[in-house]
Amino acid sequence: MNVPKFKNINIKSYKPGKSGVNKKKKYIKLSANESSLGVSKGVKKILKKKNIFLHRYPDSKSNALRRAISREVKCDFDKIICGAGSDEIIQMICQLYLNKNDEVILPEYSFLMYRIYSKIVGAKVLFSKEIKFKISIENILKKVTKKTKIVFIANPNNPTGTYLNKSELILLRKKLNKKNSTSN
Ligand SMILES: Cc1ncc(COP(=O)(O)O)c(C=O)c1O
Repeated sequence: MNVPKFKNINIKSYKPGKSGVNKKKKYIKLSANESSLGVSKGVKKILKKKNIFLHRYPDSKSNALRRAISREVKCDFDKIICGAGSDEIIQMICQLYLNKNDEVILPEYSFLMYRIYSKIVGAKVLFSKEIKFKISIENILKKVTKKTKIVFIANPNNPTGTYLNKSELILLRKKLNKKNSTSN
């Protein structure tokens, strides 16, 4: 049997940040989504219970969790997606919406997985200039064409820490609708 060949994809791999500081055990890492407080007492208590089934696969549709989230945040159950970290959800979005040669817009300084997953499915990634390390709505709109399928925004942004406020986000959403339907 022939060994199948890898697809050759020209993408730089994700380099995670440093995970230690000179062998120190106690440190607060601000560059990753890690809790500096450790596992909560409530979670530890539940993990000690003998009747939890960690040795079984969990419900792949996260139904119980989605029901609980839907009650808590008063959002339709069907509109909630759970994933193994938001990375998996970014990947799902790219697989579901992007075809080869579709365009994706990213602010110039943005989380690396947006470009990695977009490129894996063959989309073209366009970068919009930021202004003083803040996402610029105008510069995003300049990049929109009929081929634009996704504009990825992390809010607050990683790695700059700047953010668009609620009215700026709503404005971007409205302008994107108009621009996308009128662009060449
Ligand atoms: C903007 C942004 N989105 C998503 C992620 C992925 O995090 P996780 O998969 O842990 O949710 C990160 C991680 O640094 C991030 O900075």
